[in-house]
Amino acid sequence: MRHPPQSLTIRQPDDWHLHLRDGAVLQAILGDSARQFGRAIIMPNLRPPVTTTAQAAAYRARILGALAEVPDEAATRFQPLMTLYLTDHTAPDEILRACESGFVHGVKLYPAGATTHSDAGVTDLLGHCTGALEAMQRQGMPLLMHGEVTDPTVDLFDREAVFIERVMMPLRKAFPELKVVFEHLTTREGAQYVSEAPGPIAATITAHHLLYNRNALFQGGLRPHWYCLPVLKRETHRLALIEAATGASARFFLGTDSAPHPRGAKEQDCGCAGCYTAHHAMALYATAFEAVGRLERLEAFASLNGPAFYGLPVNTATLTLERADAAIPQELPMGDDVVVPLAAGESLPWRVRR
Ligand code: NCD
Ligand code: ZN
Repeated sequence: MRHPPQSLTIRQPDDWHLHLRDGAVLQAILGDSARQFGRAIIMPNLRPPVTTTAQAAAYRARILGALAEVPDEAATRFQPLMTLYLTDHTAPDEILRACESGFVHGVKLYPAGATTHSDAGVTDLLGHCTGALEAMQRQGMPLLMHGEVTDPTVDLFDREAVFIERVMMPLRKAFPELKVVFEHLTTREGAQYVSEAPGPIAATITAHHLLYNRNALFQGGLRPHWYCLPVLKRETHRLALIEAATGASARFFLGTDSAPHPRGAKEQDCGCAGCYTAHHAMALYATAFEAVGRLERLEAFASLNGPAFYGLPVNTATLTLERADAAIPQELPMGDDVVVPLAAGESLPWRVRR
């Protein structure tokens, strides 16, 4: 019998979709990402949102300030890649400033009302944003899309598939050279579209959508810590995502969508969407890849495909995962509060070597 590998060394991975928040929360969680990832695309959905290059510069400075306080030498090399939050009023000039800055790497589309802190988002992409989109297409600035419609007559579980027809396809017909990332892909339809569509398109996939189907939300009762947007889907969708992430296409890469909320904000009558996975992100991904016998595909997904799409060099450092019975803490300190990490209290067969 072949023995399973006891360790796995890969190029240092990057996280192409991360919520770092701000202030004391940022300071508390930043080390979890910085200890594993070389870089991360930082989501702009603060309150107020990061809509200008000047705001992105200030947020980046706060992240770098917090990084200097992370008590771990290796973590201090982490690089935040900033994004702007697209609104109905984003001017083409603002896009040009972002491109010239060198530190803004994408512009994020939140359809208004789609998710946490999206009320300032776009109400009609092709109606209001064509000037900004033209500038992005010309400059090669990627559009990072939260791919769900918000139409209340569309079932929550169908919102990604309907988005492809109503928003994604018309957008890409009008802007065929625009670089697009379909963020946190969750469906078979999405995986098929990204695999086959012409032009510059890619997708991020979270660890939780690779590991869990929507049963996790209702396992033995209502489980708020498994609630995120886009919501977990049926098993057939999870299997399609696994195929995409572990397959040969370079269009799929790692994006945790790690999105911490204080315990009380999730455990209440209207609990927030978002799962905190940064703490054990690479162990979760390794577990998902190993479960289908594709551990050897993890490096392309986590460390190579993302930089290729974003036109950035691959990291020079490496990361080693080792086999271990690693318990996930019940909760972690987060500023004045605590956060409950995804799968708290369970254990994983991998951990990152320190
Ligand atoms: C994110 C958050 O909390 O900021 N929540 C989530 O469920 N993923 C927002 C988002 O990415 O949709
Ligand atoms: Zn997100």
